[in-house]
Amino acid sequence: MKAIVCHRFGSFRDLAVEERPPPEAGPDEVLVELRAWGVNYVDVIMVGGTYQLRPDLPFVPGTEAAGVVSAIGANVTGFAIGDRVMTAHRPGAFVEAAALHPSSMQPIPDAMSFEEAAGFRAGFTTAYHGLVQGGNLQAGETALILGAGGGMGLAAVQVAKQLGATVIAAAGSAEKLAVAKSYGADHLIDYTDGFRSRVKAATDGRGADVVFDPVGGDVFDEAMRCINMGARLIIVGFTGGRPAQARTNLLLIKCASAVGIRVGAFSRARPQAALANMARLLDWADAGKLRTHISHRFPFDQIGNAMATIADRKAIGKVVLTRDA
Ligand SMILES: NC(=O)c1ccc[n+]([C@@H]2O[C@H](COP(=O)([O-])OP(=O)(O)OC[C@H]3O[C@@H](n4cnc5c(N)ncnc54)[C@H](OP(=O)(O)O)[C@@H]3O)[C@@H](O)[C@H]2O)c1
Repeated sequence: MKAIVCHRFGSFRDLAVEERPPPEAGPDEVLVELRAWGVNYVDVIMVGGTYQLRPDLPFVPGTEAAGVVSAIGANVTGFAIGDRVMTAHRPGAFVEAAALHPSSMQPIPDAMSFEEAAGFRAGFTTAYHGLVQGGNLQAGETALILGAGGGMGLAAVQVAKQLGATVIAAAGSAEKLAVAKSYGADHLIDYTDGFRSRVKAATDGRGADVVFDPVGGDVFDEAMRCINMGARLIIVGFTGGRPAQARTNLLLIKCASAVGIRVGAFSRARPQAALANMARLLDWADAGKLRTHISHRFPFDQIGNAMATIADRKAIGKVVLTRDA
């Protein structure tokens, strides 16, 4: 089988596509023949060596995929050969077949394609955990979603709408904002210039109740200037290049809180709560209320071009690798 392998931290252009012996399912594992793979910003920085997790070299990157169950270990119940599943990896997804513990996979709703399933988990679980456990977002509140055209951001737009919030989508291009609008965003803000007055205008002067921030840096600094009393600022990531420094005087004035979230740590610490989150997300997806938006598809061995699309800020929603591209 083919595997994408990182032999040294640095450029994703140096990733190798290599032949490896196919895995076998151990007694407690399920073997999945993978059909599509989600590519994330996290993969780009993990290969670059700047992510908080630096796997031992060489390693197979990739954190999410989808495929078909092809073998089942003797001790495993609840799965059948041919089941369609979405899979989680920490990392190791970018292989054609993977033997995984059953807790690392969920059934794919009938209406969801392998590509949509491969790009579902990371964005939607992060968005849900951030907005619900991190931000305690309530129906009727206003959520300001930064980086709203990205993988996390576009998922957060959809989840916030399902939670009954008014959504202000903020992103760096008209094209990204148009996609956010098509997923239900109520107000659109191009944040290449300052945006506090536009958030205030959209909220009758109050400001946002919850800010979902995968970007950090200047964008977070500006967001701190347009929050409501009691606001919650959810710190998700730093694609803008630097962590922001939350000004504690601004938090004090607005009785606000800045909350960091890590969906992987949450899932390990509270697996039942993470499963409940996922169940609710899959129910919404099954009902057609959530959808993975895929802007770019690449064949498996074009991982360098897939990652360049993300690094160059061209992706909208998700980038996926597929056997069929
Ligand atoms: N905390 C957690 O549990 C968790 C889980 C998953 C991911 N994350 C983090 O969330 C962040 C976003 O991940 P993602 O997969 O959504 O990424 P993504 O799809 O690439 O989206 C990130 C967005 O950031 C904006 N951006 C601003 N400056 C950028 C720059 N210099 N380079 C690239 N993008 C830039 C882009 O929007 P504009 O062009 O509109 O500005 C882009 O759409 C990452 O930092 C990732 O590590 C955190």
